[in-house]
Amino acid sequence: MKKIVLTALLAVAMVFAFAACGGQPADDGDDAAAPAAEGSESESPATDASADGPLVVGFSQVGAESDWRTANTQSMKDTFSEANGYKLIFDDAQQKQENQITAIRNFIQQEVNYIVLAPVTETGWDTVLQEAKDAGIPVIIVDRMIDVSDDTLFTCWVGSDFRAEGDKAVAWMEEKFADTPNLNIVHLQGTIGSSAQIGRTEGLEVGAEKNAGWKLVAQQTGEFTQAKGQEVMESILKQNPDINVVYAENDNMAFGAIDAMTAAGKTFGVGGDIAVISFDATHAGLEDTLAGKIDYNVECNPLHGPRVAAIIEQMQNGETPEKLAYVDEVAFDATTITQEEIDARAY
Ligand code: AHR
Repeated sequence: MKKIVLTALLAVAMVFAFAACGGQPADDGDDAAAPAAEGSESESPATDASADGPLVVGFSQVGAESDWRTANTQSMKDTFSEANGYKLIFDDAQQKQENQITAIRNFIQQEVNYIVLAPVTETGWDTVLQEAKDAGIPVIIVDRMIDVSDDTLFTCWVGSDFRAEGDKAVAWMEEKFADTPNLNIVHLQGTIGSSAQIGRTEGLEVGAEKNAGWKLVAQQTGEFTQAKGQEVMESILKQNPDINVVYAENDNMAFGAIDAMTAAGKTFGVGGDIAVISFDATHAGLEDTLAGKIDYNVECNPLHGPRVAAIIEQMQNGETPEKLAYVDEVAFDATTITQEEIDARAY
């Protein structure tokens, strides 16, 4: 009996203490989840991990279609490790948007602290991101961009300027082929509807409009994979005997095209009949650039783990991350690249 009375008194005391503190419900987070700077919109993390355990991050990855993607996954796994104070829930969507939507819904159910999304395509995210917003879970977009009607559906984005990448490749072509009036260009596109495809394709199409003699003799998706790149290139070679340039929207499709051209007895790369342009500048891609098989390789940096961690840290400190953050990237020419440059790279 005595025990019941004591418990009741304690409960009453707690209610008074709560009211004295301004009557706000206890924040799931601590100071780290303080409100954002005035005039900005920043969601607080869903729960306070410093009190309850590691920060839980749900990462929906596109798939494992390329060397770039493997390096990106590794960067995320290395960063969001238990040793670094995180619990990472990793989901490989196998290049399917419906799998990514399911993964996000699972993350919401599991009440993760943050959702990180590397979207396969730009459109189709409004509904599920509204669900995440309603659940109070911040969503960080990484790598490719999304196209949503309300940009408060995601906290921020970090990734590449894919259009600028395409423009770099076009500038190289304009210089290299300044004295070649007519160019037959084969265009191997990435996953249709992905920002990487949209930006790199726009760059080339604008270049082809500007340069009267440039003709896109074939334009087909190789879905960012080596196998599909090879298959598509084999069939294009049968219909187009006279090709000057292959513009492959990533290294793996360039590898596939190289295999197809080798099998067809074509010469390519430095000193060959067909110039090869690629994107990503992965280790294997740069080895092929140094070997003169790829003429020009435009970097797409996959090391987003530390960048996303920095965003999360900012949010934990109550700061508002930049809405859009572009990564600085370079490009490599087969005639100037060195082994030291390749060795110095982390991917
Ligand atoms: O979104 C980045 C692109 O996706 C990379 O260029 C490609 O290799 C990857 O699959």
